[in-house]
Amino acid sequence: MTLSFTHDVPPQRVVFASGAVARIGEEAERLKLSRALVVATPGSGTRLGKKVVDLLGARAVGLHAQAVVHVPKLVAEAGFAAARETKADGLVAAGGGSAIGLAKAIARETALPILAVPTTYSGSEATSIFGISDGARKVTGRDVNVLPRTIVYDPNLTLGLPATVSAASGMNAIAHCVESFWADGRTPVTLALASEAMRRFADNLPAVVADGSDGDARGECLIAAWLAGSVLSVSNGLQHKLAHVLGGLGLPHAETHAIILPHVMRFNLKAAPDANARLAQALDSDDPADAIANMLKKFPIPERLHEVGFDKAKSDFVAGEIAAASITAPRAVSAADVRGVLAAAY
Ligand SMILES: NC(=O)c1ccc[n+]([C@@H]2O[C@H](COP(=O)([O-])OP(=O)(O)OC[C@H]3O[C@@H](n4cnc5c(N)ncnc54)[C@H](O)[C@@H]3O)[C@@H](O)[C@H]2O)c1
Repeated sequence: MTLSFTHDVPPQRVVFASGAVARIGEEAERLKLSRALVVATPGSGTRLGKKVVDLLGARAVGLHAQAVVHVPKLVAEAGFAAARETKADGLVAAGGGSAIGLAKAIARETALPILAVPTTYSGSEATSIFGISDGARKVTGRDVNVLPRTIVYDPNLTLGLPATVSAASGMNAIAHCVESFWADGRTPVTLALASEAMRRFADNLPAVVADGSDGDARGECLIAAWLAGSVLSVSNGLQHKLAHVLGGLGLPHAETHAIILPHVMRFNLKAAPDANARLAQALDSDDPADAIANMLKKFPIPERLHEVGFDKAKSDFVAGEIAAASITAPRAVSAADVRGVLAAAY
């Protein structure tokens, strides 16, 4: 038998319920947090952050609502300073991948435990992957210290999430699943989780985007996001490498994932019959790339790279970066192949 794999099971507690945020004090106590710093994004994230601070009561030492997408180095440094100044003994990240990303950057320096309260579908809460950006460079890595110890999912907190963010972060999570089907590191567990996540997203993400107040569909998408995040650690092929390089050029993270996904699927699925079969079943379509493209068409987010400011003149640079990554699963990717995918997505 040629099958061979290694599967790590991350130590993480997951609490899911409508209204679960009311139990955040108990969960903080379980983690022995008595001075939690709440980390959130500005704007609507501040309201959520304040609510979490109130619920934590005496267990909270403050709100740091300064998270920004891709965790710029200066933002990370301000986060460490806030944790130091408040003598925090833990972090509560309330919001999407940006809030969780900043908490991870702080935890990487301080080893403070993270309790995550996710409100988007990008799945960062279920991974030990962190990222910090410095100008056009984004450095990512893995560190078990940044894996949130506890996740509290409360669908009620997501009812006000704009359709654009629901759609983009959901497509980002779908990209984790799709790529995990053909990734070298896939295991029986990641395949099962990704299939289940795809099925739940296919059945519920369009409903959530059409009607953000559908609490049941919101809950299903949060569960799908958790499962999708759980398989992200194996999803490091063309889709994620390309999104990473394009992100370095300033393109928006989740939207870029959404735009390139059908094109990467068309390129890769020809060489990945098992992935194709699993996706066909989950999406109930014999053309999974088309099914994803059709889903994207109905969403209020960009469908083309030119809409998110991609400069065509950068195609050779991007192609060179990807070719240098020597991707082989499920097929080798040349610079010319990357130029083809970029042109199709443009
Ligand atoms: N490390 C990982 O494993 C991982 C995985 C996926 C994404 N990411 C990172 O996550 C970031 C993107 O995160 P995202 O796509 O989840 O979006 P986000 O956290 O950037 O949030 C998008 C917007 O939605 C708003 N928002 C969030 N929750 C809301 C709510 N309940 N109601 C109203 N508005 C709300 C935020 O304030 C923000 O303006 C990127 O930096 C990406 O690199 C990391």
